Amino acid sequence: ARLVVLVSGAGTNLQALLDACADPAYGAQVVAVGADRDGIEGLARAERAGVATFVLRVEDHHSREDWDAALSEAVAGYRPDVVVLAGFMKLVGSSYLPRLGARTVNTHPALSPSFPGMHGPADALAYGVKVTGATLFVVDDGVDTGPIVAQTAVPVADDDSVESLHERIKTAERGMLVEAVGRMAREGFAVEGRRVRFGG
Ligand code: GRF
Repeated sequence: ARLVVLVSGAGTNLQALLDACADPAYGAQVVAVGADRDGIEGLARAERAGVATFVLRVEDHHSREDWDAALSEAVAGYRPDVVVLAGFMKLVGSSYLPRLGARTVNTHPALSPSFPGMHGPADALAYGVKVTGATLFVVDDGVDTGPIVAQTAVPVADDDSVESLHERIKTAERGMLVEAVGRMAREGFAVEGRRVRFGG
């Protein structure tokens, strides 16, 4: 299966996918990595792995809609079976979603439907939950609201900071992502209402 991965930052989730794809039995290859900004470690990881990269910055387009159309064109050009938003800090929009939304998954560092948005680890800590985690979901037009592919639970420690909690979540998140994307690649997947199941 062909994977396109979109990143905005450190790219540790991308790295986990690149490492998994090195084994042919995993059943997937990363054919391109895209970003919404230059100079990030995620792009450097792709270059070190010999994977094609592209950068599309919102500020280089006339409008957010133009950027979204350019993004969907670039991604579709790589003919992906699955697109992984791996720490991609932009919402995809009205060009992207009808064309690629059903094959695009995003990872969120909380147990949906709790704590959507940009601050999942901080919001979980502030609320005082004892268990949080990470969620892989198929993108839709909401913020972290799409049908859930996989979730993993992570305990909150009494002395956690936002950083220590996010690091623990990211470790679990990478394992979940690699396992679920591998199944999507090898078995296919179907979205039925809010439910996602593996298998063609
Ligand atoms: C992940 O925790 C992701 O869920 C969140 O940002 C982090 C990205 O990490 N949206 P990385 O760039 O993959 O290292």
